[in-house]
Amino acid sequence: MVTLYSSLSAQCYSNCNNKLGISSINSRKFGSQKIALQINQTPFCNAARMQDGAVATPPSKIESETPLKKLKDGILSVTPPKEQKDTFDFDVNKDKSTVSITVVGASGDLAKKKIFPALFALYYEGCLPEHFTIFGYARSKMTDAELRNMVSKTLTCRIDKSENCGEKMEQFLERCFYHSGQYDSQENFAELDKKLKEHEAGRFSNRLFYLSIPPNIFINAVRCASLSASSAQGWTRVIVEKPFGRDCESSAALTRALKQYLNEDQIFRIDHYLGKELVENLSVLRFSNLIFEPLWSRQYIRNVQFIFSEDFGTEGRGGYFDHYGIIRDIMQNHLLQILALFAMETPVSLDAEDIRNEKVKVLRSMRPLQLHDVVVGQYKSHSKGGTTYPGYTDDKTVPKDSLTPTFAAAALFIDNARWDGVPFLMKAGKALHTRSAEIRVQFRHVPGNLYNKNFGSDLDQATNELVIRVQPDEAIYLKINNKVPGLGMRLDASNLNLLYSARYSKEIPDAYERLLLDAIEGERRLFIRSDELDAAWSLFTPVLKELEHKKIVPESYPYGSRGPIGAHYLAARYKVRWGDLA
Ligand code: BG6
Repeated sequence: MVTLYSSLSAQCYSNCNNKLGISSINSRKFGSQKIALQINQTPFCNAARMQDGAVATPPSKIESETPLKKLKDGILSVTPPKEQKDTFDFDVNKDKSTVSITVVGASGDLAKKKIFPALFALYYEGCLPEHFTIFGYARSKMTDAELRNMVSKTLTCRIDKSENCGEKMEQFLERCFYHSGQYDSQENFAELDKKLKEHEAGRFSNRLFYLSIPPNIFINAVRCASLSASSAQGWTRVIVEKPFGRDCESSAALTRALKQYLNEDQIFRIDHYLGKELVENLSVLRFSNLIFEPLWSRQYIRNVQFIFSEDFGTEGRGGYFDHYGIIRDIMQNHLLQILALFAMETPVSLDAEDIRNEKVKVLRSMRPLQLHDVVVGQYKSHSKGGTTYPGYTDDKTVPKDSLTPTFAAAALFIDNARWDGVPFLMKAGKALHTRSAEIRVQFRHVPGNLYNKNFGSDLDQATNELVIRVQPDEAIYLKINNKVPGLGMRLDASNLNLLYSARYSKEIPDAYERLLLDAIEGERRLFIRSDELDAAWSLFTPVLKELEHKKIVPESYPYGSRGPIGAHYLAARYKVRWGDLA
């Protein structure tokens, strides 16, 4: 019996439903033999935020009865950033503080599908402070009752905690209100301020604005909210959604404009991929498991792949998408953010600034992307099984001659000591054969491998590969070579597999839940700082401009296919094979 044990990293409060336990990848039995590799893993609960692997003491009964205390002491035990030392977070005297959350653009898709449900989930989990108010703000005329009706249609209960759900929903909806106003009217925001004050009822108030509106009205809304509806005594924070500009210049202009009304530490630039469970777990995987960190360099890693694919097109979003394209929509933010977390050096601490400093260093060590290292594609109509799937330009909101890429593959390089020469490949596409997001780490060949002759001529097939499947079916698995049981010596590639649904009974929270909770708490670790944003745009702006100026025609690929063939040639140039298609 061979069993490798290591310690668990954290324990979580009982209201999070996470069980104290050791994570195990795999369990492959041969007769009485069991090989188990055990790794540290982040418990996926918003309430599980421990520092430096500290094990939390379970709350006493009294503590567990006070949600604000839970928020302060346990659920969010991350070092508060400096700014919060002189402002206030939640008042210790819970009866005197309140949080007002205003969703600007409340009738939009994102608000309905993600923001209100995430707020409800936080309420349901007991993660919102005792006193809070939610306001929807948009141009359309709506009563409070109509807003509640609209919101109630999108709320769902956690599968594992569906007791009292109806009751909880009612209570949550009673805290939701609506104010109709223009996004550029200080007067309308002043009316909102008045209503907020009524609900805050003299308590110490903190205010969070979530801007779920198109970029062309961002600045006006920020101006009006900041001038007419900022909190008088507590903090005021603003969550902004991408796109943060289209290139270096427009992004810098947006930042300058925002900073006329807000300090950097009031701006929470959201990239919802940073709130995904497996992305958040990346640092735990690297920095709390001895077996990975020593291998995390050019010495052992052959290439790294960041793959995003969707099995649907831009249906309904063509107007937005055509102005941005897949490189701006997915690569410059979601995939690049994951890459930075993947490749950064060990931060000094888990403090937001320490982590973001390391991410910026990675981005600034990268070579700007070159045109010859990019392949672009656009999906075309395809018929399958009697159904015809539309091409990108069949969308009425997209110009017929659009050259906007709906697919891109790129090879990027980090010119630092750790990663010199290692290709970091990215691939992102819409209307492909599957929906998934994953990180693939392909390791080098075993030097002087005794078993080379057992693998035939294709040695690449025999290298180890670590796959972090962000979605769907969240999993971390490691491809290893193993002897097929029997008298002969046949080897095969097997997976040591940590499949989340098999290991954890708790439902994985939506990325927006984590990020909203962080914004309420003032935790900036998972939000983009302006210098990160500048560095990210510097990498992509030259190639984006070249693609547009040279009017590069994207390679077409059928809806539902594996994407353009050019992506294979690009990978092959760097002696890489896409792991997802192997
Ligand atoms: C958004 C993009 O940021 O992310 C969309 O604008 C994309 O085009 C979406 O569909 C994907 O998010 P998720 O969480 O569904 O993978």
